[in-house]
Amino acid sequence: MDSAGLPRNLTIAAMRRRHLRTVLSIERANYASPWSGASFLSEMMQHSTRYYTVALLGRTVVGYAGLMVIDSEEAHVNTLTVSVEYQHRGIGTFLLVDLVKEAMDRGVDNLTLEVRASNNTAQALYRRFGFVPVGVRKGYYEETREDAIIMWANSIRSPEYADRLEFVQSRIGMEAMSPSRSSRSSTSLVSSEYPALPLSRENKPHMENGGDL
Ligand SMILES: CC(C)(COP(=O)(O)OP(=O)(O)OC[C@H]1O[C@@H](n2cnc3c(N)ncnc32)[C@H](O)[C@@H]1OP(=O)(O)O)[C@@H](O)C(=O)NCCC(=O)NCCS
Repeated sequence: MDSAGLPRNLTIAAMRRRHLRTVLSIERANYASPWSGASFLSEMMQHSTRYYTVALLGRTVVGYAGLMVIDSEEAHVNTLTVSVEYQHRGIGTFLLVDLVKEAMDRGVDNLTLEVRASNNTAQALYRRFGFVPVGVRKGYYEETREDAIIMWANSIRSPEYADRLEFVQSRIGMEAMSPSRSSRSSTSLVSSEYPALPLSRENKPHMENGGDL
């Protein structure tokens, strides 16, 4: 890690409507089929099953992440994106640590996601978090017909996983500045709102596009 590591004044906050302008410009810079503002708003409104955050440098949004809780067995990482000029400084890791902790707080045991077969950076990051490839969705990404790799991280509430998470945090110098989670309400699990199927950018009915997750 070089000196341009994790910015010291990085914080995490719940994604709000006021963040959307910057979120959407980061989204457009990173994805061939970006989500729309309506898609983000729809996600953000489903408080009991969703958890969407932004990484802030001061008041500037530099990244964002989203989690969808299915049940105690499974939560889906819907998005993880960092502004191009801030990538490779640990911000993606910072956001994902927070997402994983939220899933743990909600009593979820396992996490899953889809990632482009060609997206080596993201796959390396996910592997560090204990995600392993378990399958392929052929031609999942509409615009290029690229395959999606399905990855799972299991038993995230085990002591072994706690060790992994601590190691991941130490690698980006996060111990001293773990995101404070006390100010954010965490909802305990199990709600009748859970969709029958995990939703991704490709199969969300309200999402007219297909992105990386
Ligand atoms: C994937 C993504 C979210 C990662 O975000 P990021 O902030 O760059 O992630 P991190 O900095 O935590 O980790 C990425 C790499 O930077 C390295 N890194 C972190 N801090 C560093 C530092 N201070 N100095 C040098 N390298 C550093 C990490 O070790 C990691 O290395 P690797 O790629 O060799 O494995 C980001 O690249 C992104 O938004 N990509 C486009 C959208 C996307 O593909 N999202 C994922 C969809 S599945």
